[in-house]
Amino acid sequence: MLNWFSRNEVERDIISPNSRVRCHFSLKNGQLLYSVYKNDKLIIRPSRLGFLICGEEPLVNNLKLVREQKKKHSEVIELPWGEDRYINNNYNESTFYLAEKKNDKRIMTLRFRIFDNGVAFRYEIPPQPKFSQITIKEELTEFNLDLNTIAWKIPAYQPDRYEYNYEKTNVFNLNHSVHTPLTLKTPNGFYLSIHEAALYNYGSMTIKLNSRQALTTDITPLSDGTKAHVSLPFNTPWRLVMLADSAIELTTNRIMYALNDPPSSDFSWVKTLKFIGIWWAMYVGEWTWAPGERHGATTEHAREYIDAAVRLGIQGLLIEGWNEGWEGDWLENGVNNKFTVATPDFNLEEVASYARSQNIELVGHHETVGFIDNYEKQLEAAYNYYAANGIQYIKTGYAGSMMTINGRREFHHSQLGVNHYQKTVELASRKKIMLDIHEPIKGTGIERTFPNLLSREGARGQEYEGGALSPSHACYLPYTRLLSGGMDYTSGILDLANSVKRMSTTLARQLAYFVTIYSGMQMAADRPFIYEERFPSEFEFIRAVPTNFDRTLPLAGEIGEYYVVARKDHDSADWYIGGVTDETPRRVHIPLDFLDSGAYEATIFADSDDAHYRDNQFGIVKQNKHVGRTDSLDLYMAPGGGFAIQLRHI
Ligand code: NOJ
Repeated sequence: MLNWFSRNEVERDIISPNSRVRCHFSLKNGQLLYSVYKNDKLIIRPSRLGFLICGEEPLVNNLKLVREQKKKHSEVIELPWGEDRYINNNYNESTFYLAEKKNDKRIMTLRFRIFDNGVAFRYEIPPQPKFSQITIKEELTEFNLDLNTIAWKIPAYQPDRYEYNYEKTNVFNLNHSVHTPLTLKTPNGFYLSIHEAALYNYGSMTIKLNSRQALTTDITPLSDGTKAHVSLPFNTPWRLVMLADSAIELTTNRIMYALNDPPSSDFSWVKTLKFIGIWWAMYVGEWTWAPGERHGATTEHAREYIDAAVRLGIQGLLIEGWNEGWEGDWLENGVNNKFTVATPDFNLEEVASYARSQNIELVGHHETVGFIDNYEKQLEAAYNYYAANGIQYIKTGYAGSMMTINGRREFHHSQLGVNHYQKTVELASRKKIMLDIHEPIKGTGIERTFPNLLSREGARGQEYEGGALSPSHACYLPYTRLLSGGMDYTSGILDLANSVKRMSTTLARQLAYFVTIYSGMQMAADRPFIYEERFPSEFEFIRAVPTNFDRTLPLAGEIGEYYVVARKDHDSADWYIGGVTDETPRRVHIPLDFLDSGAYEATIFADSDDAHYRDNQFGIVKQNKHVGRTDSLDLYMAPGGGFAIQLRHI
């Protein structure tokens, strides 16, 4: 439907396909407002929309509606890899074409999409006579919630980027900016998560309370104090509010992907990967990244690890510390990193050729320490070097509290950072390279458009074990960080009682992570001898668990307390179930009615009754039995524990 008119006062309801979600949009006295209801209960109170543009009047009031367009959309999207192969993209869209009543008659479009499980909108600034480029001073979008809404937050603008423990607080305490996805529970019992989708060429959105006591966007600034310099036409990222009746329902909200574009070229070469690495040995002090007597990335070690990967039945091997730049204080000296020069004791050509002969995929490594000028100068040559050696997977890293470019320090999450990460993803896609980005920009679903972006870190991972991770951390992730996509959590560290890095988990829980924390590049992070010599039967589970799923079925959980999920393999009729709990022991009852008909062989790894993450980490019960869809399972999770189940269709 298309309407042509020019109106100063507008009130519109945009209703979701199932009529349960309603967005109310209004234009009154030139001011734009929206509010959101679910089941007729108010969730987002009237909230302001608009921008401040440098050198211009605010693009926020004195607006009139010039034209309005409505559209219904219904589609099933097939994703090449991930947690769910098919996702729904069903929404009702309303687009409001706005113009200023006076001054230069600037124009702006607001596009709303209302889904059964969320609301999304974005600003579109078309080309216009007076502007071909603009500098955004501030975005004024609000998410005006009841101040007693509970929030699960990590702080923004901190030196460790997204790597903080989640804290539960109330909206009235959000005086300092926090990252998204920002997950919340309203006093009337609804769950929501505020996030963004398709973040391109713009500062990342953080959230804080403004002087009106409404949550508002705080776009990560550039070092010149502005938020973004853009050419027109320009679309902002989608502002996304995921909605659910329960915490567990929130965890499979896939609107973020639906709001991103399909790929524009062929990505059939992309394959998810499970890999081991010359990696944890550095964390536990056996080897070093830097050259020297205990250097990890030597040709000899690499050959040994390739042989181990073959024996273990794992497809990939990551090698860190192979290049020049790790000597001395590698964080301070990162500006000197060379990405095409190996250390004298590492022969990349020989290692790559041996890996190829053994059918092992090498995962290359670029630790930039955030010196992106140094990296960008070498980017093309560095990717070519790996590609010429048949290396198609690269883990990148941006350790360093800020990004440094020509002496300027910028936030990883600023427009400059966003554009840098995008440059790497696009160049990698042209070279048929797949990426696992550590210290990344948060996920906003762009892997739908660029499926070669297989994973990210972007939260505290297991490298924080040995003191800085509590059992609740991995019980927050599914409801918070993982709403923005998969995570390389570096699961499967079974040497739990290591004196340098003691894990805050039980043994069964390390296996559970392969199901509860999805990653398109999934690392079996411990050293191979731990798997081969100490835990061969546990490793069988790690080897078998897929990195690509057809379907994900969240079964039970509460934010920061526990999480139980079942996932069906993409390539077989097998299912996997994982569960994790915080410090509280729990029993869960799982009816298996989601299985197909026929028999399944269940292999169960569960905590023993006396297991405990502090003093009995290895207490495990292993069980094999035949089950079908009329059966159910009862599982125990010890403090800091969990369970992992393989259900093999027979
Ligand atoms: C931090 C990354 O998360 C970790 O995986 C990597 O080993 C170190 N940086 C060194 O690059």
